Formats: sequence, C-alpha cells, structure tokens
Amino acid sequence: MSAAPRRPQRSTPRTSRNGNNRTAARTSAHSIDRVALLAHQLRTPLSAINALAQGLIRRADRLNPKDIRAKAEKIWRASLRLDELIETILSYTRATAGGIVLNPSEFNLEELIRRACREQGGLEPDRPFRLQIRGLPEIVIGDPILLEQALVIVVSNAMKYSWPDQPIEVSTRRRGSMIRIVVKDRGLGIPERDLPFIKQPFFRAQNVRKLPGTGLGLSLAWYILKLHGGDLEIESQEGHGTKITMIVPETNTVGLSYSI
Ligand SMILES: Nc1ncnc2c1ncn2[C@@H]1O[C@H](COP(=O)(O)OP(=O)(O)O)[C@@H](O)[C@H]1O
Ligand SMILES: [Mg+2]
Repeated sequence: MSAAPRRPQRSTPRTSRNGNNRTAARTSAHSIDRVALLAHQLRTPLSAINALAQGLIRRADRLNPKDIRAKAEKIWRASLRLDELIETILSYTRATAGGIVLNPSEFNLEELIRRACREQGGLEPDRPFRLQIRGLPEIVIGDPILLEQALVIVVSNAMKYSWPDQPIEVSTRRRGSMIRIVVKDRGLGIPERDLPFIKQPFFRAQNVRKLPGTGLGLSLAWYILKLHGGDLEIESQEGHGTKITMIVPETNTVGLSYSI
C-alpha cells in the first residue's frame, strides 16, 4: 500500500526549538481524530439498534407481527453494518501490522462471486443485480476468504454510493493468466480531484461526507489484491457512476509482502 499517492502535506515539519514537539502533537491529534471518526462510525448503527429495540419493547403490545418483523429487520441490518465495520477495522489493524498472510487454496471463483452477490443483494431485495460471469477457469488458487472480503467491500460500496433502485453489474473476463472482476454502479461517482487519493486509508471523497464510512475498505481491498499479485483499478465519473476492476491472478501460491 505504500505506493498510494499521498495528498501533499500543507506544511513541512517546523524546525524551531519546539518543532519536534509540535510535529508529535500534530501526529497525535491526527491519530485521535481517526479514533474519534471510527468511534463515531460505530456509534451510528449502535444508536439505531438501541432506538429500534427500545421502540419494540415499549410498543410490543400494540404492534402487529408485520411491524415487529420490519423493525427486527432494521435491527438486523444495523447489526450487520456494525459487524462489517468492526471486521474492516480489525482487518485494517492486522494489515498495518503486516499480520495478514495469504492462506492459498483451490476454489471455484464463480461460486464465490455468486455467493457474495447473493448475500449482498439479499440486503436490498429490490436492487437489480446483473451478473455476467464468463471466462473463468474451474479452479483458481488464492485465498478465498480474503478475496471474498475484497469483493464484498467493492460491492457494498457500489450499493452504498448509488440509489437502491439502480442496478449493480458484476462481470468477469480473463486476460492471459489474469482474471478481471468488474463491479459497476450508476451512483454518485468519485470527483476527479479525489480519485488519485481514493485508495489511501481513511481517505473519503468530498461528495460522500454525509454518508457513514471509515475510508478503510477500499485500501484493504487493494491490499488484499496486491498480496495476491493482482491490483485494483478505479474508473469513475462524478454524478454518473463507478467501475471498479479487481485483477486476480489465476494461480497465486506465494503471497507478496505489502504494508499499508
Ligand atoms: N462505488 C463507489 N461510488 C462512489 N464512491 C466510492 C465508491 N467506492 C468507493 N468510493 C469512494 O471511496 C472512498 C473510500 O471507500 P472505502 O474505503 O470503502 O470507505 P467508506 O468507508 O467511506 O466506504 C469512499 O468514501 C468514497 O468516497
Ligand atoms: Mg466502503
């Protein structure tokens, strides 16, 4: 991940007598900001669970089974969001400590893609999901758990950053020994000026600030693909949509070493 372009620093470290202290203070303030951001993101789904559960308790006698089901589903979705956030934060922490290693095995990539899309699509039953899976070998060698995590990150972004009635298209292609998994949405898109920084941990584009998120998912997905000897390509047009291509080698048994 060290190859991600960094947004230029506004000022260089000061060289005055207290320069080191000031730099350290700034770094520590920056870390605190990040911890605060993560805590805030965790609190959002937790508050929803709290409010919905209290509503259920208070009004249990007056609610019909349909209402109870609707509220329970909302609680379930918020708990999934919380779980996903915690998983991303833990994986990111492991990745920064160099603690994610490939555990390669043979697996069927088509099954993996179909399962991940079915599970994500199940969270928004009215969302059109178009799958066009072709050109895949019977067996791929890689880490199926990590690759599924990367795919879920990319697909859930496509869902989060587009309206629920807009389709998500997932397709595959093969170029030589490389497999390309393409996830396309017709959502908010990424502003051109933010695009060069979008794989950086904690970076979020200007146009999504009102939506929840940590800015860790995409950098983690990129990291997972790099570990496989693959890559993550992003094309996007603000207001029109985003196309993310996951490039996965057909066989990878030796993990490369990368650090965020
Ligand atoms: N499909 C997409 N459409 C629009 N913007 C996206 C999409 N995927 C990622 N992004 C942008 O990239 C940023 C980083 O993504 P990610 O690391 O998953 O963080 P977040 O927690 O904000 O979703 C997002 O905040 C958003 O600005
Ligand atoms: Mg995300």
